Amino acid sequence: MSAGDLHVIVLAAGQGKRMRSARPKVLQTLAGRPLLEHVLSLAAGLGARETTVVYGHGGDQVRAWGAERPVGWVLQDPPRGTGDAVRKVHEQHPAQAGAVALILYGDVPLLQAESLGALLEAARAGKLALLTQVLEDPAGYGRIVRDAAGQVQAIVEHKDASAEQRALREVNTGILAAPADALQRWVAGLDCNNAQQEFYLTDVVAAAVREGWPVVASHPGHAWEADGVNDPRQLARLERIWQRFQADRLMEAGVRLADPARIDIRGVLQTGRDVEIDVGCVFEGEVSLEDGVVLEPYCLLRDCHIGAGTRVRAYSHLEGAHTDAACSIGPFARLRPGADLASAVHVGNFVEIKNARIGKGSKANHLSYLGDADIGSGVNIGAGTITCNYDGVNKHRTVIGDGAFIGSDTQLVAPVTVGAGATLGAGTTLVSDAPAGKLTLSRAPQRTSVNWQRPTRQR
Ligand code: UD1
Ligand code: CA
Repeated sequence: MSAGDLHVIVLAAGQGKRMRSARPKVLQTLAGRPLLEHVLSLAAGLGARETTVVYGHGGDQVRAWGAERPVGWVLQDPPRGTGDAVRKVHEQHPAQAGAVALILYGDVPLLQAESLGALLEAARAGKLALLTQVLEDPAGYGRIVRDAAGQVQAIVEHKDASAEQRALREVNTGILAAPADALQRWVAGLDCNNAQQEFYLTDVVAAAVREGWPVVASHPGHAWEADGVNDPRQLARLERIWQRFQADRLMEAGVRLADPARIDIRGVLQTGRDVEIDVGCVFEGEVSLEDGVVLEPYCLLRDCHIGAGTRVRAYSHLEGAHTDAACSIGPFARLRPGADLASAVHVGNFVEIKNARIGKGSKANHLSYLGDADIGSGVNIGAGTITCNYDGVNKHRTVIGDGAFIGSDTQLVAPVTVGAGATLGAGTTLVSDAPAGKLTLSRAPQRTSVNWQRPTRQR
């Protein structure tokens, strides 16, 4: 049996009232992505042939969010228990012979594929497989009841459990896998004769045992993988656990973190050798840092590639930027999408760069806006230089040749070209092309009024 026979059912019909949010619980974000997104990417990573999400009353936002995703949607309204949720799926997607069904929860975001290996293998071998955990405080959870030989016999919900059963510390995480057709049969036979008058999915265990099916249990690789989110505190706790886990992985790869408790990775961060990251840096989307990159405190990098030996100084904000080797960026620099820096470029404080290619060794060290520009190598951009790239309707390009010197407080009114080696005098408003190798400036002649006196206060 191959991974292609896997049907993942994601339960997400619970209301999540304790989040006290207008947004459904499964759309709350952890590490920058909705909880449900974590679960769906797990399902995709497992090679599921089909994934079905059970959503509930008020779940329109969830459906709208997931409209483009390759998953099926089943409404469960009212929510009459986890068993009822799975039954609703079977009404629309009857089990395929030979397939394995895996039940996941939409509000359990950090489960790792490795922890499901044993479960899926057992299900493929014709067993009912449960993901269980041993907890110090098992209150609230379904308890795993085993016989004297240690064989799983049933799951008893906390509210239905005897005092003796409540003392059991092995609990049900809710995640389970089984041959799909058997699961469908067991679920069809559920009743709601219990403390909560709900259809408990957990009752399939006793049903399987009655039919003589083997039931096995395994534990997740890390205790937190099976933890669910019910309120903002639990969400924040899992966020910190996940961030610390990622920080540990980075350090195992040799990255030096000033403080592993003060880094946030909301996406994927790739790192070379000898990368150093100071406190408070946030990474979003896909970011790669080549060998020897140093990030000073409190930088945000979203979808960036930073070349070897580049230093990003404190409080810089980089989005969709690409740099070659040995650049110096910041402090307080802003690189926006399309900022493309060749090697050894210096970008200093309060410089904003958008959709602009900057050639090797060029410098813009202070207070500039460079947008829609092609800037050559060895160019010096003086303080306060602005590309006036937008005429209110269209955007135009500014081209600056190699070795040009742009005096401070220059406005380059695009479209305009500065020739190689040209010098622009400070304060120039450049409205037409500046020839190569020449000084161009636009400046009213300076004059001094010899008879002028400061006004005095009138009585
Ligand atoms: C369930 C298990 C319990 C386990 C616990 C782990 C049952 C009967 N009990 O408890 O053994 O220890 O999870 O957290 O299965 N959901 C629906 N439809 C419903 C009810 C729930 O889709 O009608 C979804 C929820 O959105 C959630 C998941 O199922 O993602 C679990 O629901 P929740 O109410 O948190 O679990 P319990 O019933 O308390
Ligand atoms: Ca729960």
